[in-house]
Amino acid sequence: MVGRFIFRLSGVVYSGSFIRAAGLASGVSVLEIGCGMGSVLTATRRRLRSTATYLGVDLSIQMVRQGHSRALEPGRQKPVSLVVASGLSLPIGNSGFDVVLLSHVIKYLTDEQLNKVLWEAKRVLKPAGRVVLWEFSPVLTARITGLIVKCCHAEKLRGTLELRRALKTAGFRNLRPFRVVTPWLPWSNVAFTGSLD
Ligand SMILES: C[S@@+](CC[C@H](N)C(=O)[O-])C[C@H]1O[C@@H](n2cnc3c(N)ncnc32)[C@H](O)[C@@H]1O
Repeated sequence: MVGRFIFRLSGVVYSGSFIRAAGLASGVSVLEIGCGMGSVLTATRRRLRSTATYLGVDLSIQMVRQGHSRALEPGRQKPVSLVVASGLSLPIGNSGFDVVLLSHVIKYLTDEQLNKVLWEAKRVLKPAGRVVLWEFSPVLTARITGLIVKCCHAEKLRGTLELRRALKTAGFRNLRPFRVVTPWLPWSNVAFTGSLD
């Protein structure tokens, strides 16, 4: 019950930011790397009444399993596809997706891994494709940031400049920051869209 509520809430909260930032329309295909249970993908597709390909990949078998069982709740539209895989080496051919989403996953990646994941995102995007990415930003002091990283069992939090640099190094252009709010947490997110054209 609580799990289902959180699933719906985070989907509703983030799908609005995602649709606005990416200018998503119903025919646009989406790949999410680090999709968890697929709540953002599911809510986005429902809002847009999309029948385009929505695929999520996640390292965690448990998350993908839970995502499947939520997607199979009665009354649901055709579920999004969720598979267990690493963003470091996607089991997906080149140039197949319009948009790649990374929502709250990059804090788990070292700099080298982030670089690899962004190159993979670039590889699977169509020539006019876009990446959309958000993550908690560092807060107030290095000590508090360190505590958040520790609590999340994460690797690091990156600020706007560092993230912009990583996206640029991977070859993304037209980098645009946008606003993503996590209403139940007292700190903010850093968020960017970028394109290949
Ligand atoms: C905080 S959850 C975010 C889930 C979802 N994106 C959302 O916003 O609701 C982060 C997810 O990233 C996944 N993850 C971490 N590293 C990954 C990697 N290298 N490849 C794929 N998934 C990864 C974790 O298993 C976890 O499910």
